[in-house]
Amino acid sequence: MVRETHLSTDDFIYPLFVTFGKGVRKPISSMPGCFQESIDEAVKNAKEVYSLGIPSIILFGIPEHKDEFGTGAYDDNGVVQNAIKAIKDAVPDLYVITDVCMCEYTNHGHCGVVEKGEVENDKTLGLLAMESVSHAKAGADMVAPSDMMDGRVAAIRSALDENGYSDTPIMAYAAKYASGFYGPFREAAESTPQFGDRRSYQMDPANRREALREISLDIQEGADIVMVKPALSYLDIIADAKASFAIPLAAYNVSGEYSMVKAAEQLGWIDGKRVMLEILTSIRRAGADLILTYHAKEAAEILNG
Ligand code: PBG
Repeated sequence: MVRETHLSTDDFIYPLFVTFGKGVRKPISSMPGCFQESIDEAVKNAKEVYSLGIPSIILFGIPEHKDEFGTGAYDDNGVVQNAIKAIKDAVPDLYVITDVCMCEYTNHGHCGVVEKGEVENDKTLGLLAMESVSHAKAGADMVAPSDMMDGRVAAIRSALDENGYSDTPIMAYAAKYASGFYGPFREAAESTPQFGDRRSYQMDPANRREALREISLDIQEGADIVMVKPALSYLDIIADAKASFAIPLAAYNVSGEYSMVKAAEQLGWIDGKRVMLEILTSIRRAGADLILTYHAKEAAEILNG
């Protein structure tokens, strides 16, 4: 009766990694229980997610070919675009969000256009806008830019509006830190930068007030939901964001946070399920309305009883 925070399957967004081919379900070694899946397998997974009562998924694509400009990202026939169509066909009521970024599609692995060894913020905006429109055209319910280029929410908003997708909302990865916790994801999405790192566009983990500035810019540019990422080492940022802005708030319980729990569980050092629920509850307690988490299916099974 006096419990202050409740965890519900309604709060979860489950990430899926979609790849080319057929009948592919390749385990991601650093993320036990997660897979790179071809579209047919992703459809099966999406049905399972929906039947567990999880309302939403977020799609990441692993294209067959990568190139300098990440053309696979905005190809209307690309892996994510085809996955959206197949999933919306099979499970129309599952809410499909797409991650909008260049890093899975560029051969250098950076989140934007690279010139003379530098990531070019402004030259990237047009490509992110094209990628977003292409996802919306395929049937995505919401787009989620994760690149952290300045000005991309505004660029995406106007491109969606101009192309007849004014109803498609944007969930902005607004306060995204340059984090070591993304390690396992980069294996999953094959998106490790081939030189340098992401510190020129992602945030310094030491900064707290800067997060509020980043979030408020994204809201001004038209974001409908804002996100803090990672979650666990950034609960203070989640709490700050909740207190400062009256807008739905998401938190990304990222790959490294998931893998640490799985590894310690496999070693018999912690009670994995208990720790998982404690972590997810703490993210809600800090103020997140929505949680993107690889634990979603497991947690839903427990919450469903
Ligand atoms: C793409 C992107 C990343 C994640 C989500 N979108 C990786 C990165 O920025 O390097 C990380 C997700 C995770 O670690 O679970 N830009």
